[in-house]
Parts: sequence; structure tokens; C-alpha cells
Amino acid sequence: MADSSFPVFINSRQYIVNPGQLPADYTLTDYIRDNALLKGTKIMCREGGCGLCTVTMQIGDAAPKAINSCLVPINMCSGWKITTIEGLGSEKTGYHDIQKTLADNNGSQCGYCSPGMVMAMYGKMQQAPKELPEKLEGTFDGNICRCTGYRPIMYAMHQCVKDIEDIEKCKDCPSKLVETQKSSSHWTAAGGLSWHSPISLAELKTIVAKLTAVNYYLAAGHTGVGVYKQDGPFAECIDINGVSELTAIKHDTNSLDVGAAVTLTQLMSTFEELSSTPGFEYLKDAAQYIGHMANVQIRNLGSWAGNLMMKQKHHGFASDVFILLECVGASLNVCDCVNDSVVVCTPAELLDLDMKGKVIQSMSLSVKPGWSLRCYKVTSTYRNAHSLLSLAFFVKYDDSKVVSEKPSLVYAGVSDKFIHAADVENLLLNKNLFDNATLQECMTALEKVDCQDDPQFSSVEFRKSALKSVFYKAVLSIGGSHCSPEVMSGGELLARPDISTGHQEFPTDPSQYPMTQPVPKLDARKQTSGEAQYAGDLPHMAGQLHAAFAKTTVASATIDSIDVSDALKMPGVVSVLTSKDIPGVNRIRNEEIFLCEKEVFYYGQPVAIVVAETEAEAMAARGRVKVQYSGQKTPILSIDQAIKANSFHPDPSNNILTKGNTQEAMKNSDMVISGKIETGEQYPMHLESQTCLTDPKEGFYILHAATQVMGAMQTGVAALLGIKKNEVEVRVRRVGGGFGAKQARSSFSGYATALAAYHIQRPVRMHLTIEDNMEMLGRRNPLRIDYQVGVRKRDMKLLAVISNLYENCGFYTTEAMGSYCFHYVDSAYYVPSWKCSFRQCKTNQPNHCYIRAPGILSVNHFTEQMLAEVAVQLDVSPEQVKEANLYQYGQTNPFNVPITPCYTREIWTKLKETTRFDDQTVEIAKFNLANRWRKKALSLMPLKYSQGFPANWAFLVHVSINHDDASVTVIHAGVELGQGINTKAIQVAARTLGVPLDMVRVHPPSTSYNTNSSPTAGSVSSDFNCLAVKNACDMLVARMAPYKKKKMTWEELVAECQKNQVDLHATYQVTNKNAAPDAKFDFQVYDVFGAASAEVELDVLTGNIIINRMDILYDAGASYSPEIDVGQVEGAIVMALGLSFHEEIKYSTKTGQLLTNSTWSYHVPMCRDIPVDLRVSLLSHRPNKAFALRSKVVAEPPMLLAESAVTSLRKCILEVRKDQGLSTSFTADLPLTLEKLHVACGLNSANFNIS
Ligand SMILES: Cc1cc2nc3c(=O)[nH]c(=O)nc-3n(C[C@H](O)[C@H](O)[C@H](O)COP(=O)(O)OP(=O)(O)OC[C@H]3O[C@@H](n4cnc5c(N)ncnc54)[C@H](O)[C@@H]3O)c2cc1C
Ligand code: FES
Ligand code: FES
Repeated sequence: MADSSFPVFINSRQYIVNPGQLPADYTLTDYIRDNALLKGTKIMCREGGCGLCTVTMQIGDAAPKAINSCLVPINMCSGWKITTIEGLGSEKTGYHDIQKTLADNNGSQCGYCSPGMVMAMYGKMQQAPKELPEKLEGTFDGNICRCTGYRPIMYAMHQCVKDIEDIEKCKDCPSKLVETQKSSSHWTAAGGLSWHSPISLAELKTIVAKLTAVNYYLAAGHTGVGVYKQDGPFAECIDINGVSELTAIKHDTNSLDVGAAVTLTQLMSTFEELSSTPGFEYLKDAAQYIGHMANVQIRNLGSWAGNLMMKQKHHGFASDVFILLECVGASLNVCDCVNDSVVVCTPAELLDLDMKGKVIQSMSLSVKPGWSLRCYKVTSTYRNAHSLLSLAFFVKYDDSKVVSEKPSLVYAGVSDKFIHAADVENLLLNKNLFDNATLQECMTALEKVDCQDDPQFSSVEFRKSALKSVFYKAVLSIGGSHCSPEVMSGGELLARPDISTGHQEFPTDPSQYPMTQPVPKLDARKQTSGEAQYAGDLPHMAGQLHAAFAKTTVASATIDSIDVSDALKMPGVVSVLTSKDIPGVNRIRNEEIFLCEKEVFYYGQPVAIVVAETEAEAMAARGRVKVQYSGQKTPILSIDQAIKANSFHPDPSNNILTKGNTQEAMKNSDMVISGKIETGEQYPMHLESQTCLTDPKEGFYILHAATQVMGAMQTGVAALLGIKKNEVEVRVRRVGGGFGAKQARSSFSGYATALAAYHIQRPVRMHLTIEDNMEMLGRRNPLRIDYQVGVRKRDMKLLAVISNLYENCGFYTTEAMGSYCFHYVDSAYYVPSWKCSFRQCKTNQPNHCYIRAPGILSVNHFTEQMLAEVAVQLDVSPEQVKEANLYQYGQTNPFNVPITPCYTREIWTKLKETTRFDDQTVEIAKFNLANRWRKKALSLMPLKYSQGFPANWAFLVHVSINHDDASVTVIHAGVELGQGINTKAIQVAARTLGVPLDMVRVHPPSTSYNTNSSPTAGSVSSDFNCLAVKNACDMLVARMAPYKKKKMTWEELVAECQKNQVDLHATYQVTNKNAAPDAKFDFQVYDVFGAASAEVELDVLTGNIIINRMDILYDAGASYSPEIDVGQVEGAIVMALGLSFHEEIKYSTKTGQLLTNSTWSYHVPMCRDIPVDLRVSLLSHRPNKAFALRSKVVAEPPMLLAESAVTSLRKCILEVRKDQGLSTSFTADLPLTLEKLHVACGLNSANFNIS
């Protein structure tokens, strides 16, 4: 072992790490994937926000714990014992119970999140099994799943807890391995980083004292790099975990001392334990508050002192540790290493200390008998999000409710400088805390607080209001029964029950099995065990290079020059390619420029491809590509700006739709309401980033791509390189989530690697970072709809709608929605006359892209909200207006096509009954009357979704029967994205051929087998491909029939056919024509129906919401794989809830740069954001006569049903506004984020009272 080498134990095996040979920032994930070659651990964000890279780590005999391996430098791991997903189990060694249970309960769709989920659960079982099952769901607060909607994952994990009686200790038991002696060490990593691992405070001081002139990092958990990535580069890094003085926790009956390297998890449990000691009761609230910070994996690694230091360096950082410790009067012991002294200070004083040459050593807390602590953190998702505004309030009052000592009121998120609300602290002393007049004085003082207008914070309007309302909440909470009954519940938090529940109901027909049989995804165990391979998991090829994009740093300008000379000089760089190196066509789908030429259209546009030996080298060199710009303009970013600047793409010919005479109908209406509704962007957050590996072979290019559009990728690459299509093959084994964004958007990594491979003739790989993925590639198209609706009052009928739709397409229209939206504008309502138009706004944003129900989700929101507004004007409930206008059999849609069949009313009535809508509405009204600051609402919505088969689509499939063992191979033309297409295809093949499921296997598709096939998109590919599989199998059955004798087994029949040289391979190309022979229209083939109800609860004072219950009744026709279809419904709902409430995109208005380009700044729903009780039923006995398999599509339509929660929330807001004496009209633009809905409530602090 060389001097600086050290051992790491991964799944019981010892690896010797030689840091001198690894890049300075090489992480544990990199090591696991690229050195240990264990590809089950996935990677995406590299910032601790997604949970894909979760493994467990153990030091010494401490219990293993779940951590994010992407934040841990390998240098820190000396002697660590790591367990990865492979260490738990596999097909060969036997699956672990968690892997099996997650798979068997439908908890894995695309599977990309699954290893991380399993490891998070495994970590919990190892670290704190006693906390299960109560704290089970909290275990996953750092793990994103974008496919399943979490419900089946949570269910499966509950089963694990139930099933495993003695929660297994780690099978590999790495603690049995030889313990490595901890000793201090120092080495230099390949990038020149000097790494120290001292083991005593004295040693640490000596090292730090010498570092006052360089940028250094004190690594406790090293998680700070997940938030502030740009603080480096660092010349020196000191791992402080071996310093025993910094990891010590000491307490007696009066005080508590906690070392600086103590993790947040340890701090939380220490607080919990001590909170039963007299005088330390306040630590109970403190422990709870820490439990709201970050996520399990971060808390397991990150230290409280590291968190404070992030605030010290970045004053705008909304540090939860800071407000907590500052509020309760902690004192910090800071070691001055240069002067060998200790500075004692408060957290606030720390902010002004020069910390060069200093180390936080510990903090001290003392008993505070009789003090009450309240801490609130207002976040956009329930967990795993930094605060929009936080408050900590510490107060002591006597028996007459008078504040007897100066209280402490601390805020985070107000501004860089604001800490204490000193005016409030001062005025409260000697006042009755629960007196209305005192409260109003506090409100007046808080009114004066200056909220900094800065994009790093939430909106000023929100903060100004929340500052007051959250303080009011704290007072109500402390006041408890001192407060009058109708305001008391305002002091409580909206607490989710520990366990979410769900219920699924679907028809099956055993006579059709394995079709209609509920089977989980057949690849699921491979996914949950990490054995499933994705494009990025393919082994490193001999000679393989890595590519990274250099991007523009302005949004609108002309390029004068591109200088790649510096980049070419960087270590490892092999080539830098620009548009001039493209031998063929520099276009995606004949429109969009691939590599920027002369004009810059958006910030982050790819301008060059840097190709280097390693990914780190390519990333480092891309910043050296120098681009000179001139004529820079202020970017056009919004629809409003585009309208003002008259910036539109040319109007297509079909941009107007008319039905009936709207003018006449408006004249005949009793009431014409007009308004404007907007919806925002949504980033798909597919957990597998855009990635591709191109392998050049003898002038032939094989692309291993993560794409939904193999055919278009093949066409595009051939055009780019100026070669024939038969010189390009695109192969896709599976994709880790696409949601539409791996259609044309996947071209970027495909084209880049193909172009580089073409020039260099070596394999080239590209894997976009989360920032690139978010900045370069577009999102769901934002829409604005200006409308007028004419209504007849007597029967609440809508007579006419005029709507002008504006679509923000970005700079191109490659994936614009345009006239497609017209097909969904009616939702489930009959309106006799329509006039709709659309215009496509040209903005300085990347080309926006298709994402699950593109445009459709937005127009559905429009129609539902338009009806809700009609209800307000008529002073009735939205459900009354909806019921009055629901489609009836034979009524015609805006294209004059009759709706036949039509189940809208049947489904509506059924759901209304099962949810006891009317009774529940009465109960809710009583609740709202009794609770001024908590509101509930229940809503019902229908669904009618026109499902089209694009006229020219086709899928070519192959079915082969292998002689000797009679097994069956299917190669269909769809891409497995998690939607379960492979499982469905196997069910169909097994049923048609009459063989068991395990006789059939699906092999990955490729453009060489599945030539000229269409994209896997628009929800139809599963059904189309399965129909093709069925028809191919039917052909085989017919061919084999003459050889079939009575009682012959399948194997015997195959042998007989082989003997007679029967062709046991069939291909079938399914098209629009043979899929639905009776269809009269190219597009509008059939309607999907459904309905949903949602009960939502709002904490008025914070803006937090909980969806207490959601019921879905969905028409999947005769579903031939109901468990998978239910999974699609659940996943769709939660993704749409993301757009509705959580996911918000922000740009710099000056530069056009995307500001929300990380998991830190962009929040998708986590497992505790889903409906507490989610019930999904599939409609029985309604086979789809318009499609040969009698099923209906599932992927996209159910997304629309999440709108029921938006309407409920709208009702809650209207209740609040009514209480406030405000108008009951307001527009629920999406996303209706916590900030926006808080503002919409229009809280007036004059209405705050206690008794
Ligand atoms: C995904 C994610 C979510 C998060 N969510 C939240 C959240 O909701 N609320 C919140 O408040 N925070 C949040 N954080 C921040 C998190 O709490 C911190 O990253 C963590 O506590 C830092 O501790 P660490 O030990 O990893 O620090 P490190 O990363 O090791 O160090 C951070 C900084 O502190 C310095 N430092 C470390 N120890 C000392 C010491 N003893 N003396 C002097 N300097 C020192 C280092 O030099 C470095 O500059 C989140 C972070 C991530 C990655
Ligand atoms: S890749 Fe590590 S948390 Fe996302
Ligand atoms: S299954 Fe969870 S992200 Fe796809």
C-alpha cells in the first residue's frame, strides 16, 4: 500500500484507494460506480437532493446509516464500511426482503429511484429500527420518485416492516472486518488538493493556523457543497471527523455541550432525550424543528456547525440551525487557532467574525425553566426544501400571562441582515402575551420590517404577510386554551398522519389470464436490486471519451467569435467542436439549431462540445471556451413581454377553431364573464439525466441512448453527420423516466456524442448535469388564456366560449402544442358555440418540450377554473355549474364530433355517491365555521379526454419462438420508460400463445429491428405495440395450428413445427388503420372518461396544505394489466400535483438565466406531499369498442384529475377571503404555490386576535 493509500470496504470487500491518482473532487459515488463497478447506485443531482446515490456507511461499531454518496469525497472514506444495493441481494444470491417487497408491490416503474429507496429503508432498519413504523415515511424525505406517486412505495415499505419480524442486521456485517486504526494523515490528491485528517484538536489547530492565506474547507459532513457548489476551488481540505473533541456530547442537569462535528441526526436525538430533563423541555420543539431540516441522508452526515458556517459565509442562507440556536441563546466556542485562544460568541456575533484560522469547537445550551419555544419553517414541499420564511420564538410568561423575561424572536429568510425582531422582543416584556392589544402592537412593529427584494428570497408580498401570520401562529400555539375556540386551531401545525393509505379497485377476468391479471412489473426485482442496466450503466469502453457542452452566457446577442484554444490546452482535452465541424445539417427536427451559429437565442444554448479523456476534464475545460458577443438585448421571457414586443412565431393555418355562432350566443347570454388564466412551466425531473454513448464501428455508429424516439434520433444523427440512416443504429434497453422530455430533447446528447465519435473515431459518452439538463432544455410550455364565457342564469348553461390562447414556445416550435390544445379545451362540458384561437410566442427560452399531457393539463385547468369563476358569479358551487353542463350522449364537441359513448354523468354520479359528497360538504362547512385559520374544502371534477392516434404512426414488432426450449422472444418498438410496456407485451404474448408468463422475454428495441417505428409517446405506444404483439402471435398461432394435436404440450407443438420447418418468427406493423378499423377520424378516435374528488385542508396562517383524501374513478376500458394501469394513474396524479402546487421556474429578468436549476431551488412533490388517502378505481364493464384490444390509454389522461385539488384549494381561499371581507373572485394561476396562495388569502393582521 503506497503511503497515502487507504482501505474502503464496499459490501465486505476491501478496496485500496490511492487518492494521488484520483481527481480532487472524486466522490464516493464515482468510486462505487467507476472503480468498484457497482452500477446499481445511481447519480443525478450531485447535491443531496434526489436520493439516487443513497448507500449506507458505517464507521467502527456505530450503526450503519443512509447517506448521499454523491457529496462525500472519496478522500473522507478511509476505513469506512459501505453497503450498496448490490450488497443486499441479487437474482443469484437471493433478493433482500426490501428489494422483493418493493418490486412485488408495484413500487418500481422506471426503476431509477428504486435502489436509493431500498437503501434509505435499509439504512433506517439498521440505524433506528425502533422508530419504525411510526417514522417510516420520514425515512424517504430525501428520495424523489417521479413515476409512482410514492403511494405504492410507502405501502411496500410498510409491508417490509410488517413482514420482517427481526429486522435483519446487515448481511455482510462489515463491522466484522479488520478495524483500521485511525491515525492522522496528509496527502495530495491528483488535482493538487492537499488533504488532512487530524485526530486531535491540537493537531487541527496547528494545521488551520498555517492556512490563513489559502481557501480551505473544514469537512465535517461535506454536505455544504450540495448547496454552495461555487465556493471552491479549495487548496486544502481538513477532515475534522477524527477530532474527538469535536464529536463529543456532554451534559449535566444544567447545561449541554455539543461538539462542532456532531451531526444533525445526533443533535436531534440528544435534544429529544434531554427534553424530559427539567428546564430542557424546550429541546422537544428544537428536536422537531431539526427533523424538518434537509433530509435523512443530509442530517446523517451534516453537522450543525457546518450549517452555521454556511450562514456565516452566505448571510442570505436561511439556516435553520442559526435561528434555532440564536433564539434559545446558545453560546459558541470558537477556537482561534492562530492565537491559541477561544472566542465565546452568539450565533449572531459569529456572522461578523473573521473565521480565517478559526474553528467552531462546540456550543453550549443551558436549562431554561418555564420557557416555551415555537419554531416554524414555511416550505414549498412538506420536506426536503429550504425555508421560504422561518421563525423561532422563545418566551417565558408568568401565571398572569405576563412576559416575565425578555423573549427572543428570530426570523430567517427576511433579508441578508435581519435576525431579531427586536421591537417585538422589547415591547412584549411585562405585557400580557395573550392580549389582543399586545398582539396588534406586535403586528404594527412587524409591519415595519424591511423585506429585501432579491430573487434568493421568496416574494416580498409573501414575506411581509407571513412574518406576521407565523408569529400570530406561534402565539396561538403557546396560548392553547387561553385562545378563543375558533382561532385556537390556527396554532396547530397541519400534521400528516404517520402513515398514508390507499385503496385500489379494478375488474379482472380470470378466464382471460394472464391478460387482465394484476401483475407487478416483470423487471421490477431487477430494478429494485440495481441489476437493471440503463444507458449510463454500460461499462466503460476501451478508448472511451467524455463530452460536455460549453453554453452561452447571454440570452439574446450576436456571436462575434468563438475561441477554443484555451480549452484545447486543458489537461485531457482531445477536441473541441463547434457548428463549423458539423458535416451535415445543424438542425433538430429540421427547425431547431443544435450548436449555436451566429445568433444566440437563449441563455445556456450549446455553443461547443468539449471532448476529453474524463468527464471531470471535459467539465473543467468547457469554461475555457471563450465566446465574444455583441448587440446584447434584454431577453423576452414571458408571454406578456412577447405580446408587448409582438414576438410571435408565424401563425399556423389551423390556429382558429369555430363552432356555432359565438357572437349571437354571447348576445343571448344573461351574463358574460371574462378573465385570464395562466399556467407555468414544469421541469420533467426525469431522474436519469439526458445521456448517450456513441460507439463508432467501421463507419457505423451505434448509439446507446436514453431516448423515447429511436427513429427520429436515427434520422437526425444521419442528417447531422451527412451519412445514410443505415449507418446509424439507436438502441435503448430502458429509460429512467422520460415523460416526453426524452423526445426531441434527447437529441442533444445523441448528436453531441455522435458528432464527437464521428470526428475522433472513439466511443464518446455524455451525461448532462442537472444544471445543464434544466438550463439547456425546455420544460412544459407555459400558457395564458384570455377568455369570455356566456352563461344562461336560469339553468347555469354555458352558451358560448371565446378563448385566445398564448403559448410560450421558447425560441422554436419543434414541440409546440398549438392546435392540439383545441381538442381538450372543452374538458367534459358541452358548450354549443366555441371560438378559439392560439398564438405562439417567441421568447428567449430554450425550445419548450412535451411533458406528460402537454398543453392539455393547462387547457383543462383553464376550463375548470373558468367554470369555478362562473360559479362565483352565479353564487352557486362549482359542482352545480359542472353538473349543469356535463356532456350527454351524442352532444358534439368543439369539432362537431358526437360524444359516443359518453360516461361522464354515470361516473360523476357514482363518485358523488361513494365519496358522500353532499354529506361531506355539510361537515366541511361546519368545520370551516368553527375554525377561522384552518379551512377545508371538497371538490368534484369530471374527465373527458380525446385520445388520438396520429395518422402516420406505426410500430413494427417481432415475435420469435425459439425451438428446443420453446421460449418466446418479443422485440416490440416501444421504449420501456417505466410505463410497464414490457410487462403488458409479455401478458399479451403469453395469453395469445397460451404459454406462462415466464416463457416470454422482451428484448430491447433498436432501429435496426424496429425500423420506421414511431415515438414512445402520447400514451398510445403500449396499446399499439401490444396490439402488434397480439397480431404477430395470432399469425404464429395460425401457422402452428395445422401441427397441433390434442393434448400436445406447447414444447411438443414447437418441436413439431420445427420438424416441419414452420417459420416461427412473425413481424407485424401496427398502424392507425389496423388499430381502429372503424375509426372515422384521423385524430379523434375515442374518449377516456373519469372523475375525481379531493378534500384539501389549508393552514391559513402559513399557506401549508394537506390533501386529506383523493378519490379517482378512471375508465381504462378493459384494462389488460390493471395493477400497472393503477400505478400509472397514481403517478400521473402526483406529477400533476407538482405543477399545481410546488414546481415553480424562475429566470433572471436581466440575463435570462434560469435561477431554478437545482433540487435546492426547484421542488417536486416528495412522499409526504401526496394525498394522505388515495383511492383509485378502474371503471368496470366498459370495454373500448374503438380499439382492438378493448383497453384505453392511461399514462396522460389521469393527470388532469389532479385539478380537483386545485379547485378545492380555490374554495379554501375563497372561504378565507370571505372571512376577511374580500371579494370572492380571484384567479388560480398555476403553480398555485404556497407563496401565491398565502397572498391570495389577503390576510389582514387587524383581524388577528386571541380571545
Ligand atoms: C439537499 C440539502 C438540503 C438541505 N436543507 C437544509 C434545510 O432545510 N435547512 C438548513 O438550514 N440547511 C439545509 N441544508 C444545509 C445542511 O444542513 C448543511 O449542508 C449541513 O448542515 C452542513 O454540515 P456539514 O458538516 O456537511 O458541513 P460541511 O459541508 O462539512 O462544511 C460547510 C462549511 O462549514 C465549514 N465548517 C465545517 N465545520 C466547521 C467548523 N467546525 N468550524 C468552522 N468551519 C466549519 C466548512 O469549511 C464549510 O465552509 C441542506 C443541504 C443539502 C445538501
Ligand atoms: S445524486 Fe446524490 S442526492 Fe442526487
Ligand atoms: S420509479 Fe421512481 S423515478 Fe421512476
